[in-house]
Amino acid sequence: MHKPDPFVLVVFGVTGDLTTRKLIPAIYNLALDDLLPKEFALVGLARKPLAKKEFRTRLQRAVERFSRRPFDEAVWERIQGNLNFLQFDAELEQNYAKLAGFLDRLDHEQGTRGNRLFYLATQPRLYPTIVEGLGKTGQGKAIRRRGGWTRLVVEKPFGRDLETARSLNQTILDHFQEDEIYRMDHYLGKETVQNILVFRFANSILEPVWNRTYVDHVQITVAETDGIGTRGAYYDQAGALRDIVQNHLLQLLCLTAMEPPATFKSDAVRDEKVKVLRAIRPYTPETVARDTVRGQYSAGWVGGKAVPGYLEEKGISPDSQTDTFVALRLFIDNWRWAEVPFYLRTGKRLPHRVTEIAVQFRATPLTIFGPESAASTEPNLLVMRIQPDEGIFLRFGAKNPGPALHIRPVNMEFHYNAFDKQLPEAYERLLLDCMNGDSTLFMRHDEVEAAWAVITSILEGWEARKEITPNPYAAGFWGPPQADSLLARDGRWWRQP
Ligand code: BG6
Repeated sequence: MHKPDPFVLVVFGVTGDLTTRKLIPAIYNLALDDLLPKEFALVGLARKPLAKKEFRTRLQRAVERFSRRPFDEAVWERIQGNLNFLQFDAELEQNYAKLAGFLDRLDHEQGTRGNRLFYLATQPRLYPTIVEGLGKTGQGKAIRRRGGWTRLVVEKPFGRDLETARSLNQTILDHFQEDEIYRMDHYLGKETVQNILVFRFANSILEPVWNRTYVDHVQITVAETDGIGTRGAYYDQAGALRDIVQNHLLQLLCLTAMEPPATFKSDAVRDEKVKVLRAIRPYTPETVARDTVRGQYSAGWVGGKAVPGYLEEKGISPDSQTDTFVALRLFIDNWRWAEVPFYLRTGKRLPHRVTEIAVQFRATPLTIFGPESAASTEPNLLVMRIQPDEGIFLRFGAKNPGPALHIRPVNMEFHYNAFDKQLPEAYERLLLDCMNGDSTLFMRHDEVEAAWAVITSILEGWEARKEITPNPYAAGFWGPPQADSLLARDGRWWRQP
């Protein structure tokens, strides 16, 4: 792995949950692997004052608590002198000039050469203000003229619908060039998500069957056992459709359905993903009513523990109509996938935590082994398990030993732990890519907008057809019964992972 150039990482919202759980542990793990340049500095910004010592202790606690590998005093010693804190109210214009001055001084003191990586981990409503503040004080495109580089990482949610996403793109593009912008979807940093492309395009046996001639349908599931935790205020405004489908689920869909790119360069890969998103058949209020299911969890049991319903969670209005579960049927109108249904589902408080893509192949044209074996024969199924128990499984029929000809489905399995290597966290990979200027695993402006176009057509359908309210499901179940009907009506059923 290439070690990045000297640079300063500026984190807006350094005391937030994401920074504590993900970013700081990722920085620490990169340091542990010796993947940070010697001339590296971090500037953490937050509204409330913090003494330098207090700040560093706070980050150390974050590492101790959330790093995938144990805390190593010597490694921490090496980086902690580079951790700076600045009290910063993002809404005060004069603060941006002060920040620019502070960064210039750091360049002199720490040799960071005018290279900046700005990370937006604040409340999304502040994104435009921060971007404008940076742009106006010469921290955007202008940095190139001074011989350095500037990059901006934007955390999700990127807008609330197509219009707000477009407007945010416009503001950012006024101040940063597209190749300086890194729109984050942490799913793309997961090893097993990247492996979808390797599996598909580094092997030749799949391509001939990866199409409408052989594939009956595809199911993509992102199931979580957790509820909404302390994120009620955010979640109640978002819901599962915006929180997971718009980004993670549609990205998994793109990687599963896209054409082989000509190269593994960032624009070649992203061009193919955009084509998939644009080929998704747009929803109308009628198809939204038929092909989407909303759910909301009520009290129940998960993992042997009683858990409250969504409406009893902290920060949720008692008459909230927010979806904590969504299931969809969609079609990709292109030559490869015409009329192959893709069923997507995601939910909180489901029975297991599992993310997987299941490609169900067509049944054999004829059952030659008699009626008894026909009943026990199941079509081939290929499952790409993203998490947990990462791996790939292929189901096929085998003869059950014995005099009778009985067929039994069995699995051919590959488990990622066969590599005997701990998988890095998504944020480690993605931060390293930003530091090295590789945007392949980030979303381009047109890609985010194409995803929002699909999601907005669903939101508009829900708005137009007020009767499509979330159906209750008890925590610990696979969503509301309507989700089963969505497939049952096509003569199919959800796989129980
Ligand atoms: C985030 C969502 O983007 O992804 C969360 O905002 C969700 O609601 C999380 O829990 C799931 O990520 P992972 O990596 O745990 O599957």
